Amino acid sequence: MSGRRIVITGVGLVTPLGVGVKNSWTNLVKGKSGLVSTKILDEYDRYYKDIPSQVVGKVPELKDGNVNGLVFHGGESSGYWDPTSFLQNGEVRKLPRFAQYALCATKEALSDANWFPTQEDDLNDTGVCIGSGIGSIEDSFNNSVNFHEKGYRKIQPLFVPKLLANMASGNVSITYGFKGPNHSVSTACATGVHAIGDAARFIKDGYCNVMVAGATEATIHPLALAGFARAKSVVTNFNDDPTAASRPFDKDRNGFVLSEGCGILILENLDHALQRGVSNIYGEVVGYGLSGDGYHITSPSPKGLGAARAMEFALKQANVLPNAIDYVNAHATSTLLGDRAENQAIQTIFGNNNKELAVSSSKGSIGHLLGAAGSVEAIFAILAMHNNVLPPTLNCDSPGGAEGDDKDNFIFNYVQNKAQDKEINYSMSNSFGFGGTNASICFKKIK
Ligand SMILES: *[C@@H]1O[C@H](CO)[C@@H](O)[C@H](O)[C@H]1NC(C)=O
Ligand SMILES: *[C@@H]1O[C@H](CO)[C@@H](O)[C@H](O)[C@H]1NC(C)=O
Ligand SMILES: *[C@@H]1O[C@H](CO)[C@@H](O)[C@H](O)[C@H]1NC(C)=O
Ligand SMILES: *[C@@H]1O[C@H](CO)[C@@H](O)[C@H](O)[C@H]1NC(C)=O
Ligand SMILES: *[C@@H]1O[C@H](CO)[C@@H](O)[C@H](O)[C@H]1NC(C)=O
Ligand SMILES: *[C@@H]1O[C@H](CO)[C@@H](O)[C@H](O)[C@H]1NC(C)=O
Repeated sequence: MSGRRIVITGVGLVTPLGVGVKNSWTNLVKGKSGLVSTKILDEYDRYYKDIPSQVVGKVPELKDGNVNGLVFHGGESSGYWDPTSFLQNGEVRKLPRFAQYALCATKEALSDANWFPTQEDDLNDTGVCIGSGIGSIEDSFNNSVNFHEKGYRKIQPLFVPKLLANMASGNVSITYGFKGPNHSVSTACATGVHAIGDAARFIKDGYCNVMVAGATEATIHPLALAGFARAKSVVTNFNDDPTAASRPFDKDRNGFVLSEGCGILILENLDHALQRGVSNIYGEVVGYGLSGDGYHITSPSPKGLGAARAMEFALKQANVLPNAIDYVNAHATSTLLGDRAENQAIQTIFGNNNKELAVSSSKGSIGHLLGAAGSVEAIFAILAMHNNVLPPTLNCDSPGGAEGDDKDNFIFNYVQNKAQDKEINYSMSNSFGFGGTNASICFKKIK
């Protein structure tokens, strides 16, 4: 089994830059922003206006208007979120939003991979591993409020299934009848990378040949934003300029922007993909590293030692030296300490061997999708390699100028504000989470 190679044969996205891979990727490369003011949200007067952070990355809906001039392919309305385009009305009410995002992105990814099996052995051979950092915070909130105000009878019968973080995996496997491994990861903001890495291991270990893998998050809710604001994790000083609020590595970075969305990948045993005549292979999963900081609940260890160990492990598995890596899609969320620690970790691993390294963070454009960040950004790292384009770090005007940053450590190409063309043979994607968890994944172009 150890000889099995794992490739990516399909991708699907729902992000603040639009619904669908083409919409999200094109807007990312064009330097568009998906970040908006909470003033456009329904519950602004009731809840949002008292929260000190007032910027979010919301999956666009027609009713919000296209405030950031996003570009949509296939018709003006195609990039907007509309669950009734793929679910019956009754189903929409039964499914929590984070599972709806997963169903939408899974449908796109399976179509891309052209994998809609009907034979029993193929169904047994296909698994699902979709995680979520938080699950349905909206259902927790509504049911808590209803219970408190109106008592037992007002608790929804579907409350528990809607709450569970593994329900996205469950709903996808039910919808398509997939009967391979049915798994779900929840490691805060490292969820997406862990889901891809674990799913790749299932194929490598012979449990199945195909995995639907990724993560989903639907956290644009006042309770979530209020919680992150109380933890002092989210940005508060760009409320009047939402598209400037997320500034990875920049001197004025001040906290992350709470966002939502979903990224789904179809992972497949290379031999299986070749046998069924797949024509488009995006790349190969060649390395996966995990580590813990053992340091603090929400703060990174100052030198980023945990992050460095995760990257080191991914490189070792990929069996390449640091100078082989062309692009790192960084976790960098636009927080003072987190970006500095990750930069230090990248410097530790690549500093002396790879001055050409490009490091960008898509969070300047989309904010922080929490659990879903890892799988959405892994897809960006794969598309960067597939298209030989480095997506930009929006708002990174002056890398490493913040108080306490050591300018001498900010030596890489941060792809400031504009995309760049570059041949990319190997890319990496990092994700780190509260609780002290670090993950890194490495992809290789297949010729
Ligand atoms: C698929 O799995 C089911 C349940 O374990 C088993 O009964 C069946 O024989 C399997 N089918 C094939 C074709 O492998
Ligand atoms: C939660 O409650 C609000 C306010 O009553 C309602 O608009 C919303 O649809 C509810 N959400 C869910 C998932 O039931
Ligand atoms: C997968 O897991 C979910 C959640 O635990 C469950 O509801 C679902 O029935 C499972 N699907 C299959 C096909 O076993
Ligand atoms: C998803 O799960 C919910 C809750 O278990 C269930 O009511 C619904 O029918 C499922 N829908 C699909 C499409 O799997
Ligand atoms: C490793 O995980 C921790 C979790 O607390 C995270 O905050 C940190 O950013 C990660 N390490 C580094 C140096 O980035
Ligand atoms: C990528 O791989 C090709 C073929 O192996 C090689 O010719 C090229 O120099 C590599 N490019 C980079 C940037 O390493």
